[in-house]
Amino acid sequence: MNQHTGLKSAPIPFIDVGAQRRRLGRAIDDAIARVTAHCQFLGGPEVAAFETALAEFCGARHAVSCASGTDALMLVLMAQNIGPGDAVICPSFTFCATAEVVVLVGATPVFADVDENTFNLDAESLKRAIATAERHGLKPRAVIPVDLFGLPADHDAIAGVAKAKALFVLDDAAQAFGASYKGRSLGTLAPATATSFFPAKPLGCYGDGGAVLTDDPALVATLKSLRVHGQGADKYDNVRVGMTRRLDTIQAAVLIEKLKIFQDEISERDAVARRYTEGLAGLAILPRVPAGMTSVWAQYTLRIAGGGRDRMAAALAAQGVPTGIYYPKPLHRQTAYRHFPAADNGLPVSDRLADEVISLPMHAYLDAPTQDRVIDAVRAALKP
Ligand SMILES: Cc1ncc(COP(=O)(O)O)c(C=O)c1O
Repeated sequence: MNQHTGLKSAPIPFIDVGAQRRRLGRAIDDAIARVTAHCQFLGGPEVAAFETALAEFCGARHAVSCASGTDALMLVLMAQNIGPGDAVICPSFTFCATAEVVVLVGATPVFADVDENTFNLDAESLKRAIATAERHGLKPRAVIPVDLFGLPADHDAIAGVAKAKALFVLDDAAQAFGASYKGRSLGTLAPATATSFFPAKPLGCYGDGGAVLTDDPALVATLKSLRVHGQGADKYDNVRVGMTRRLDTIQAAVLIEKLKIFQDEISERDAVARRYTEGLAGLAILPRVPAGMTSVWAQYTLRIAGGGRDRMAAALAAQGVPTGIYYPKPLHRQTAYRHFPAADNGLPVSDRLADEVISLPMHAYLDAPTQDRVIDAVRAALKP
């Protein structure tokens, strides 16, 4: 028994960033040392090298790095000239950044519901959200599907609705870079895909970072201008209003090393998820990956119907097993967003999921004994 925590075994970390750090060891130290030696802290050679490697990894023609996932989303909306009077449809069950960027460019987020099996944007609700936007006198311009918890949204269904209404599709793959849909990697499924390198993401850096993936060279040129003050021919030629949203060279250097082991880490995460699913069968509503998709398991998220979630979280915490609630409140209920329109029949699935979801520890370095400890703790907490 640990006399400080009162636990029989040491608490399990929810995400163990340190384990990966130990695996990469000298490779990361050397990569950072190369940048501190050449001193090109912004726009150093590692930035372009990383962009090339990232695009190659997913099969997109281009990657444009930037300072965060939020910036990646916002830069694309700016490049599309989306602004006042425009509606951008977003799922309500997501991280706030998805809708935040819409408000920041002066447009209006209109919330749609999600599918209860995948947690991702429901194409039927998307249609209703478009109609809701029109009833509010807004011009529907874009949709931001989110690949939540690492699982791709139903991109074909969403693209079908978007095409019929001439909406631009901006895929929010902040949690899901590395996942695939019908044999194609995220980054190639929409005209623009945004991702995040926040440290806890499946592909994270050592601070903030993000990127946009696209096949469109004109979009690339605009994004590269916008991320450095709207620069034109050179940095003192300002052809549009932009921002300072570059990826630091040190972060690019770190990401180059991490990308080399990313595919292996995705396999390890998938093995953890499979083991959880075997060990917990029949106990709760478990996450399922639809045929033709792969997930990078940013989260392994169960649903506990009937109100037992908080009891389960407390029981696991008492065993040193942390859990996370992503997300306890959908965006259409948040103080900052509840005055924006939502698809006209309300968003019952988002509301229900917010009450039922609970995520278990997940990372590529979760060994079998630790997985067993998590499984045993969940089984004990949920046994009838
Ligand atoms: C779905 C989603 N979109 C956008 C973001 C924003 O990414 P960042 O934190 O890098 O700005 C995140 C993550 O934090 C996210 O989970």
